[in-house]
Amino acid sequence: MSRPSVALTQLQITHVRNLQQVRLQGLQKVNVFFGPNGSGKTSVLESIHLLGMARSFRGNSVKSLITHSAPSCTVYGLATSATANLARATIPMGVQRYRSGEAQIKIGGRAVRTVAELASQLPLQVITADSFGLLTGPPGGRRQFLDWGVFHVEHQFFGQWQRFQRCIKQRNSLLRRGKISDQELGVWTRDLAQTGETINEYRKRYFQILSPRFKEIMAKLAPSLDKLELRYQQGWDRQQSYAQALEQGYPADSEQGYTHSGPQRADIRVLSGGHLASETLSRGQQKLVVCGLKLAQGQLLSQQGGGRLNCTYLIDDLPSELDHEHSSLVCELLASMDAQVFVTCIAEEEIRSVWPEASELTLFHVEQGSIRRHAAS
Ligand SMILES: Nc1ncnc2c1ncn2[C@@H]1O[C@H](COP(=O)(O)OP(=O)(O)O)[C@@H](O)[C@H]1O
Ligand SMILES: [Mg+2]
Repeated sequence: MSRPSVALTQLQITHVRNLQQVRLQGLQKVNVFFGPNGSGKTSVLESIHLLGMARSFRGNSVKSLITHSAPSCTVYGLATSATANLARATIPMGVQRYRSGEAQIKIGGRAVRTVAELASQLPLQVITADSFGLLTGPPGGRRQFLDWGVFHVEHQFFGQWQRFQRCIKQRNSLLRRGKISDQELGVWTRDLAQTGETINEYRKRYFQILSPRFKEIMAKLAPSLDKLELRYQQGWDRQQSYAQALEQGYPADSEQGYTHSGPQRADIRVLSGGHLASETLSRGQQKLVVCGLKLAQGQLLSQQGGGRLNCTYLIDDLPSELDHEHSSLVCELLASMDAQVFVTCIAEEEIRSVWPEASELTLFHVEQGSIRRHAAS
């Protein structure tokens, strides 16, 4: 690899949890934030997530991110981005969130209205103690995971997805009303069938490259695990077109007042030795599988983006999540990828002992909400 990509070179954090005013410069490929419990390490990752997604990664309300006494929180960053000829340009990005819920998002000095624009500027993957929920939690999380990949490679996807949401909302509200004009319902159903098929095609196409990549990565991370397999469920009978499924499902839909089948019901099943991974694997193995899924997505992104787009990993307390051997394997894969990494731990030795090349680590010491660059010892 000619040069590792650095998505974020600078950050300025104001009023995110206990980080009142923090300026971080000289961010590199691998940035380690270490310090005692409650010092503000996770808050740094939350700040970066705020910059890329305008919200918390823990599903908490945005209010929980704002310092108790402050009216709003703000994160500015300088993000490098590759132009068409792969030269690097630096683009300022900023997100400010208020207690009222209001958000101000700027990219390159221009106000933008959708989080999608932010996300395409700064694709993020988060690995935390809660990540195994991707396997054990409801399908919505796995759909979001799949769509992250689709979103970053298929530029038409977001528009289609928005259209799909509009159609299904309209169709469901007509179904709920009971007395339906066939003509009106027909219009929404046709549109729904069409966008639903398109979304499914995008997802299937991405899944076909994700699945073998995931297996390759897992062969390195956990060769002893029983055969792992991903299965994509599209949300309706595979033998039918979506239009047919909607037609067949109409009696149930109209009786219960909502659309039963479709991409809104899609899922990815993760199987180990033919059994659901969420039911058979240990917690530690589940965490590895989730790491494998997220690493696969990052690898595919840098490949598909042709060097223009790379993934930034936010990893909270990796050493306490995985044992030494597996942390080392995950770090090896991360180090070999064209991706920027922000990782937290309590003591710097924890990451030193698992990262393949200690000279690659840029260390920051976090203490009571203030952060200092730490000279390598
Ligand atoms: N809204 C808030 N305002 C001020 N402080 C907060 C807020 N939310 C959390 N904190 C405090 O921020 C500190 C840092 O939290 P965190 O970043 O999770 O620590 P670490 O990851 O280093 O253990 C904690 O002491 C927590 O109590
Ligand atoms: Mg923490």
